[in-house]
Parts: sequence; structure tokens; C-alpha cells
Amino acid sequence: MKYTAAVITMSDKGSQGLREDTSGPAVQEILKENGWDVVYTNIIPDDFETIKAELVKCADELDICLVMTTGGTGFSRRDVTPEATHAVSEREVRGIPEAMRAESMKITPMGMLSRAEAGIRGGTLIVNLPGSKKAATECLNAVIKPIHHGVEVLRGTAHDCAEMHKGGHNND
Ligand code: MTE
Repeated sequence: MKYTAAVITMSDKGSQGLREDTSGPAVQEILKENGWDVVYTNIIPDDFETIKAELVKCADELDICLVMTTGGTGFSRRDVTPEATHAVSEREVRGIPEAMRAESMKITPMGMLSRAEAGIRGGTLIVNLPGSKKAATECLNAVIKPIHHGVEVLRGTAHDCAEMHKGGHNND
């Protein structure tokens, strides 16, 4: 089954047309290669209320299965994507950012500087990625495959996990 996805780029300069967004298109490409239907994209400023409203729109109005954000996860005073994600999420998903940071640390110690979060609002999974094309693609590639199963379970379309592991893993 093909699930819907949105890619939202957080960038003050990008939203004013002063900087080209390279990470958003790269994230879209990886999603499409992995069978996702990218139905919505936007570039918005690093503003807490604007980010919150955009995430709520994607979840409540557009009912998108997966919302990937890129940017605004660092230490700059304007970086508030994780806080906005946390504010609109009903349930935290710690494993996804943990996995992204663990994989990032194998590539660069700078990986620890992303404060990315993930959370669930209704039937929508929201995942933060760091802002540079390199960082965003490295992090997304680390988690994209298991995310699909997570969304299947969230949407109630998954086969039982035990069924999935039959023959592959020794967890009987
Ligand atoms: N993660 C990976 N995999 N590769 C990277 O190059 N860069 C880091 C980090 N995560 C990086 C990474 C850096 S330098 C910063 S400042 C933070 O992500 C936050 O980035 P952001 O503010 O653009 O979201």
C-alpha cells in the first residue's frame, strides 16, 4: 500500500526565496524511491506558531500519514522545530531520533547536535530531520524502512508483527 507523505522545510531564508532549498527535494526523492506518495511540500520560516499550524494542518486537515520536517533542529535561537513538534504531538516516538543520532554518530560527532524529535498526532507520524542536505539524507536513510511498518501499524493496515518475523527472526 502507498502511504501519503509531506515534506516541510524550516528556513527563514528559504521561505523568503533568499536560499535554495536542497534538502527538501532530496528528502522527497528518498521518500518516492521508498514507495511514498509525496502529496504536500512547503518552505516555512523558523517560527514556533507557524510550524505548529503547519503540522496541525498536515495531520488534522490533510490527514497525511507521514510528515518529514527538515531544519531548525540545532542550537540557534531560531531553531524551534523540535519544540513545535513536541507541542502538537499526542505521543512521543523516541526510537526514531535515537536511531538517527546513533547512525549519525558513526559518520560525524556533529550528529549529537541535532535535537530532532518525532511524535504521533492522530494517524500522522511527524519526524524531524536536520537541515543540511547531507545531514537530512543520512538521517532519513537510517530510519526510512522501519518507519513504513510503524505507519502500517498506526493506520491499522499492518499484518501482525509476529507474522512478519516468521522465518526471519528467532523471537518465538
Ligand atoms: N547528522 C548527520 N547524519 N550528518 C551531519 O552532517 N550535522 C549536524 C547535526 N546532525 C549532521 C547531522 C549539525 S552540524 C547540526 S548543527 C545539527 O544536525 C542541526 O542541524 P539543523 O539546525 O540544520 O537542523
